[in-house]
Amino acid sequence: MNEKILELEGITKSFPGVVALKNVRFDLYSGEVHALIGENGAGKSTLIKIISGVHQPDAGRIVYNGEHLLFKSPTEAIAKGISTIHQELNLFEELTVAENVFVGKLETFNFSKRKAIAIVQGFLDELNFNLRADEKVKNLNTSEKQLVMIAKALFLNSKVLIMDEPTATITEYETERLFGIIKNLKKKGVSVIFISHRLEEIYEIADRVTVLRDGEYITTGRVDEISKDELIRLMVGRKIEEMYPKFNKPTDEVLFSVESLTIEGLVEDVTFSVKRGEIFGIAGLVGSGKSEIALGIFGYLPAKWEKMTLLGEDLKPQKNMLEHGIALVPEDRKKMGLILDLDVVKNITLQNTDEVSKLWHILWKKAKSISADEVKKYSIKVSSIKQKVKTLSGGNQQKVVLSKVLRKTPKLVILVEPTRGIDVGTKVEVYNIINELANSGVGVIFISSELPEIVNLCDRVLVMHRGKSMGILGRKDVNEENVIKLATGVDM
Ligand SMILES: Nc1ncnc2c1ncn2[C@@H]1O[C@H](COP(=O)(O)OP(=O)(O)OP(=O)(O)O)[C@@H](O)[C@H]1O
Ligand SMILES: [Mg+2]
Repeated sequence: MNEKILELEGITKSFPGVVALKNVRFDLYSGEVHALIGENGAGKSTLIKIISGVHQPDAGRIVYNGEHLLFKSPTEAIAKGISTIHQELNLFEELTVAENVFVGKLETFNFSKRKAIAIVQGFLDELNFNLRADEKVKNLNTSEKQLVMIAKALFLNSKVLIMDEPTATITEYETERLFGIIKNLKKKGVSVIFISHRLEEIYEIADRVTVLRDGEYITTGRVDEISKDELIRLMVGRKIEEMYPKFNKPTDEVLFSVESLTIEGLVEDVTFSVKRGEIFGIAGLVGSGKSEIALGIFGYLPAKWEKMTLLGEDLKPQKNMLEHGIALVPEDRKKMGLILDLDVVKNITLQNTDEVSKLWHILWKKAKSISADEVKKYSIKVSSIKQKVKTLSGGNQQKVVLSKVLRKTPKLVILVEPTRGIDVGTKVEVYNIINELANSGVGVIFISSELPEIVNLCDRVLVMHRGKSMGILGRKDVNEENVIKLATGVDM
């Protein structure tokens, strides 16, 4: 076995109202990939923030390269060869890709701007990342920003690389690229700490895995000696019987229809309808136009259509879709879903003020009791409902978005990648909620990159390829093979 380069023992960390880590241990050998898994709020990000100097533990010790250490700041950790890709995208939006990549290496920033751009462009090309070094970060989409974060961390040439859900927002193709890069780094003796809710990824890339539950250390083992079912049981503390519950009963009544939806350069001539009680899936590779359909219907992108109806009523482009009873759970929860500086109560209730207000007075007691119910329904891990949303764990933020949107009892709900960043146990809860919604007569448009949930949850699936609809699969034809064929442009 290689030498042990990092060892943490007895790590404890509290935040106001919550003990995020209790007496946790973790170790890392050179040249290994050590995965860290656990439910939303289990303490994964907190642990890696302690290793990377963002947080200091209340108790415990850290030995790095044989030395007792406690990093007081991220800069100190970086200087010692530990670089981290955090779960939140923290980039300078107004700066270029090149400047963002260089930020960690400020002391070397004595190049001309042009030279810096050339260096970073060469680096990006070597990684096969399809990015322009002179582009401003604000012009990039979420997955491109994630690639910038990865490039930035790799550029530091560190001995330890920590990745907190690096694959949550990138495509399968880029995930494979990233795994290729990780395998090469391993050969050079670099160690990687890898966090993901996608267990297949753990099996593909990791050597060992450590499970946390509720801030406590559960176990560490070699991934080839531990089954997926066992991992799930260790994470959620129980066995999951049915990963993809399905109990909705679609009717024959058309609830929503759109004819020839077109968004210039992105979506071309797409037609479909959704029945009452139906879970209608839209699948396709990233860049196929599937999430743009949602943004177009909702008016966030300039869309045209020949006819769009909801319960027989004509809908014109750019109308306020919310007023019509169409709700959207967006892909970018930070931009369109949440106000990070406000607390859970305000995020859940304030979009729907008529329910919690009377003559312009907000009924806080009511807002609080609604929020408390929602927190319970989605098992959102909060220290109190007054906790600011920005201090919730990533997956718990996503649950707040779901709660906020789905509470409005819409007629049609459009969900874009709704389970992204959500742990396996909660995914099942979300699927149950979607089934229940459909059964109450709501139409659901379910847009997702995760094939298993598309295939197991949806009644029919429209598959997109390069902006066009390749066809709609009926329930009996919905399987992974058929979806992949259509998504990659194979005619059936
Ligand atoms: N700055 C903070 N202030 C208050 N509470 C915090 C802060 N950071 C984290 N927490 C709390 O600590 C707990 C652990 O959070 P953490 O982000 O480590 O979870 P996680 O395992 O990374 O979850 P996820 O899979 O959802 O990302 C949560 O209850 C969270 O609300
Ligand atoms: Mg996290």
